[in-house]
Amino acid sequence: MKKFLIDWLDERLAVRALLHNQLTGYLLPRTLTVWHTLGAVLLALFGLQLLTGILLLVYYIPSPETAFSSVERIMNDVPFGWLIRTLHAVGSNIIVVALLLHMVSVAFMGSYKKPRELTWLSGFILFNLGLVLCLTGYLLPWSQLSFWATTVATDAAGAVPIVGAKLVEFLRGGPMVSGVTLGRFFALHVIVLPLALFGLIGFHLYSMRRTGIATPPFGADYQQPDAADIPLHEEHQGGIPFFPNFVVKDGAMIMFFLALLVMVSFFIPQLFFPPSTLEPADPFTTPEKIKPEWYFLWAYQTLKIFPSKLIGLGVQGAFMTFLALLPFIDIGAERRPARRPVFLTVYFLILLIFLALSIWGHFS
Ligand code: HEM
Repeated sequence: MKKFLIDWLDERLAVRALLHNQLTGYLLPRTLTVWHTLGAVLLALFGLQLLTGILLLVYYIPSPETAFSSVERIMNDVPFGWLIRTLHAVGSNIIVVALLLHMVSVAFMGSYKKPRELTWLSGFILFNLGLVLCLTGYLLPWSQLSFWATTVATDAAGAVPIVGAKLVEFLRGGPMVSGVTLGRFFALHVIVLPLALFGLIGFHLYSMRRTGIATPPFGADYQQPDAADIPLHEEHQGGIPFFPNFVVKDGAMIMFFLALLVMVSFFIPQLFFPPSTLEPADPFTTPEKIKPEWYFLWAYQTLKIFPSKLIGLGVQGAFMTFLALLPFIDIGAERRPARRPVFLTVYFLILLIFLALSIWGHFS
């Protein structure tokens, strides 16, 4: 029966060739590391985020009068609502951790170099889309933190010369964060950004498959490919099949991240729910201290240390442009970290500054 079914499908859809090309016949370098599982981890976490997000939509009502109480209802009355909401909120933070680790590891291995420029560029846009998804989601519970963190974040756009004030008004849909802001952030968060994200993930995966995974640039056996003749669609002769060999590794790492997510959600959810998330938004009472999420602290602190917000924004813009264009700036073919001392120095300096600014932002 099974054979008949597969033969039937194969005649019409060529499923055997498809499975061979994409799974068992798709060979990967034998030396792939655990760092190469982070892309799969991201796919799994985004899938879970989609599922918990859809379930939250069943009870969430997006308006200033109802948003906070509908989230309270999800937490207190809806069966397992607390679990779904906590997994969604904590999951967004774990995704940012995985995004940062994925970006930092592919950068360290020089995997952004020719011919993988578009894989990097699409990844960089994905990273930014992910952060905007978090930012828009942050407003939806309409808590004190939601309201004031969004006020502070949208305020920063006011430093842009000439169009600053108009830009802030455009982002908020008025002079202040209000129901209109909630409406447009809701539309962005549940439809526009997820659609853009999933489209772009498709492109990212296609470009990654087209060029093949870059062989990790470590060990005595590593051979630097000839810059003029980098093979596309590498077959990695003698490599391991994606399925089942590498899928098992991917699966183990996905389990690890899911365990981390469940552990934080069960035992230390307060890490991501400070007291100001428990009070409804009050536009007339500014809390004493309003801090953005941990992954925006570096940007928040950069705006504070420069004498004008405009310089701070300029520095951030220049840094993000540098990151986006990295494959077109660092064009040497060499990928072995030990042979790239200038890159390594800049790399660790950036990581150090990022960490220092984030810690400073947290305690300031
Ligand atoms: C939604 C977010 C993302 C998803 C789902 C995703 C998924 C993947 C997957 C499945 C792979 C292949 C396996 C691996 O190396 O892990 C990969 C490779 C890659 N990703 Fe991403 N990625 C995302 C974000 C990013 C970001 C933020 C960057 C960098 C700015 C990036 C840059 C790359 C590069 C350069 C490769 C090629 C690695 C190689 O050939 O060794 N990705 N991605």
